Amino acid sequence: MFVQSAALARVKPSATLAADAKARELKAQGKDVISLAAGEPDFDTPPNIKEAAIKAIRDGKTKYTNVDGIPELKQAICGKFQRENGLSYTPAQINVSPGGKAVIYNAMVASLNPGDEVVIPTPYWVSYPDMVLLAGGEPRFVATRAETGFKMEAADLEAAITPRTRWLILNSPSNPSGAAYTKSELRALADVLVRHPQVWVLTDDMYEHLVFGDFEFWTIAQVEPALYERTLTMNGVSKAYAMTGWRIGYAGGPEPLIKAMAKVMSQTTSNPSSISQWASVEALNGPQSFIKPNAALFEERRDLVVSMLNQANGLNCPTPEGAFYVYPSVKGLIGKTAPSGKPIGCDEDFANELLDSESVAVVFGAAFGLAPFFRISYATSNAALEDACGRIQRFCGQVR
Ligand SMILES: Cc1ncc(COP(=O)(O)O)c(C=O)c1O
Repeated sequence: MFVQSAALARVKPSATLAADAKARELKAQGKDVISLAAGEPDFDTPPNIKEAAIKAIRDGKTKYTNVDGIPELKQAICGKFQRENGLSYTPAQINVSPGGKAVIYNAMVASLNPGDEVVIPTPYWVSYPDMVLLAGGEPRFVATRAETGFKMEAADLEAAITPRTRWLILNSPSNPSGAAYTKSELRALADVLVRHPQVWVLTDDMYEHLVFGDFEFWTIAQVEPALYERTLTMNGVSKAYAMTGWRIGYAGGPEPLIKAMAKVMSQTTSNPSSISQWASVEALNGPQSFIKPNAALFEERRDLVVSMLNQANGLNCPTPEGAFYVYPSVKGLIGKTAPSGKPIGCDEDFANELLDSESVAVVFGAAFGLAPFFRISYATSNAALEDACGRIQRFCGQVR
């Protein structure tokens, strides 16, 4: 009989992938399912990036590469950090991993000892706590509130830090809430961190380019240069360049950490795909002109979804600053009865009933560590969003 390891037994499978898989299964059975569960852009990888990959194949760039990235990509990443974030990194301070997810996991494995604590604000991206657990650490959650835009406050961060705290994981704009920290909000958190030199910061800037209106994106090492020596600034091509399947993530940080992450990779994955790395060189060095129009498209969708959800009985949907998610509260429906006659005792019940009654797949908030909410990914067409939000309104209207 197979018995899984004690380390893996501490971990739960990704709830977002599970919700999306369930939606795909129902679709395969012929149901008219709209999945708002998956977090990936609905547009295609730009043609110049595809061409760069095809050229790499034709040129025979199909062999093993440096474990943590080809020099050309590391150089392009240094250029990106300088150009867009005002951060100076040398190629020796850059890690390229097979996806943003792998960057974070490699950093955790490279640095955590049993009992080390990692501060994670809730709602969090589903993988952070489980990656920390797999690496032998202990997540320490800090709850945020919808009323303060799902952003962690300085006093709450201060209260969560102990002598065992090794990392804070920050994610702005956030998956799942879409919340993004302003420069002054980051300043307040940085002031706390400056007083606790044992705490390093992993900032997940994956949704950097998806900010709306006149919101200005800042990353913490830029706001407080004193933290540069203990910050891992992580990013990737998945969301900004619609390259989720290519599996390239990257980070800039202190050289000893970067070296340790390469050591992890040298004994596990080896290098990310050579072809995807060449495509990413083109993504970062090539034309960036499609990024802003894309963000404008997502902003339009955000406005549509927020407005329609706020017209649904019992829902309350804050307006986030970025990413392509909203995180509405279902507090007004808890304790009531779904159209099927079943009770809605928690946000998971809400998500299950919504899928059963209206064939709309969303992810329940408890999966992100903050209930009772649910997450909608609005990275899908306006028509599908209008249809889905209409179904959600109908469902909520029938709750008694
Ligand atoms: C906040 C956040 N970080 C990291 C990732 C991982 O990105 P990748 O697909 O490059 O592994 C995601 C993907 O959903 C994400 O939402």
